[in-house]
Amino acid sequence: MYNEKVMQAFQNPKNVGEIENPSGVGLVGNESCGDIMQITLKIENDIIVDAKFKTFGCAAAIATSTTATEMIKGMTVDEALKVTNKKVLEVLGGLPSQKIHCSVLAEEAIQKAIEDYKSKQK
Ligand code: FES
Repeated sequence: MYNEKVMQAFQNPKNVGEIENPSGVGLVGNESCGDIMQITLKIENDIIVDAKFKTFGCAAAIATSTTATEMIKGMTVDEALKVTNKKVLEVLGGLPSQKIHCSVLAEEAIQKAIEDYKSKQK
């Protein structure tokens, strides 16, 4: 069902957990399957220095979250907002079509965490 890259990412997940005193938190759910995901970010001078995720989700959600959190580390918050699920899927070499919705969780959670960070800056 899953390609080798997705299996690798799922079996060796990075950035699992929660950052203490995060700069931003994003919590999202997927209505179709009921799964949820939380992403916490540590941001310094608008640069994402750390990102962690926790999920009640499937293998596809875990593989895309670990990949997305690796991708955004070192980016500015505005660059990270452009990391769509499509870009994450390109890195992973795709997902079965019925699993594409799972990859949207990471994108939405990152966006929410950045919104949270920005709202605290005001
Ligand atoms: Fe719910 Fe994949 S089935 S996140």
